Amino acid sequence: MTEIPSPGLGTSGNDDHEQCAATVESAIEMGYRHVDTAQMYDNEAAVGEGIARADVDREEVFLATKVHPENLAPEDVRRTVEESLDRLGVDRVDLLYVHWPTGAYDPETTLPAFDELHDAGATRHVAVSNFTPALLDEACEILDAPVVANQVEVHPLLQQDDLRAYAHEHDVTLVAYAPILRGEAGDVPELREVAEKHDATPSQVSLAWLHAKDVVPIPKATGDGHLRENFETPDLDDEDVATIDAIDRERRLIDPDAAPWN
Ligand SMILES: NC(=O)c1ccc[n+]([C@@H]2O[C@H](COP(=O)([O-])OP(=O)(O)OC[C@H]3O[C@@H](n4cnc5c(N)ncnc54)[C@H](OP(=O)(O)O)[C@@H]3O)[C@@H](O)[C@H]2O)c1
Repeated sequence: MTEIPSPGLGTSGNDDHEQCAATVESAIEMGYRHVDTAQMYDNEAAVGEGIARADVDREEVFLATKVHPENLAPEDVRRTVEESLDRLGVDRVDLLYVHWPTGAYDPETTLPAFDELHDAGATRHVAVSNFTPALLDEACEILDAPVVANQVEVHPLLQQDDLRAYAHEHDVTLVAYAPILRGEAGDVPELREVAEKHDATPSQVSLAWLHAKDVVPIPKATGDGHLRENFETPDLDDEDVATIDAIDRERRLIDPDAAPWN
């Protein structure tokens, strides 16, 4: 399985250039080795600047971006990935995602363009986001490059048992967005209970549960306080993991129908 450093740093919504660059720089200097951006977030230039400013070799940082659903026609994939690399100030990224299988996504034409970019060295790995097992099966059939990751919403209130089983069986890393429930982990009593036992916060417990499930979380944070809190998580014991596994309420925080391209 491809090693993807964990946790990664999410950057969606961090579109103030200086604040985003400074956050990425601090995160890398604190020890983060994976940064997640997307064409859609309008911050690739700031992310690239933060990576360049940090006192750590570019080669040590695992950089991921995503192609916007409206840019998934093959000629747009080629053109806009070139533009993303320019904005990021790098020759290649480590992970290039199909952001969402919608918009101009057509597996038969989109995915060969990802293979071409992979062969040309514009990305080390190919990945997808918001894919179901059926869409993953289809993508794996078409692509020559292995699909190394599927990025989806995963947290204690959306445990994604089917996608976790699929990932485990097919050597696909599951990358979790909204891993701290968009800042609302404290609303979940089970997370508060486990947090108290470890003298930790509910956000840290949510991230620790994802680590225990071999899922790579990419919490978004801005100031050093949140960055550090999300980087330093407790080890959960079997009882803690079982307490969280037993949560049977479900809450999806990101509504695909409300996505900006719809
Ligand atoms: N592939 C996709 O379709 C998709 C969809 C959504 C998100 N994503 C990616 O996944 C990343 C993470 O998801 P997300 O941003 O939706 O949600 P999230 O990481 O669960 O939550 C981020 C929110 O939590 C706050 N926060 C950070 N650390 C905290 C802590 N320790 N305690 C309390 N609050 C804290 C942040 O505030 P501050 O910024 O003020 O610290 C921010 O408001 C995104 O940034 C993006 O990179 C991908």
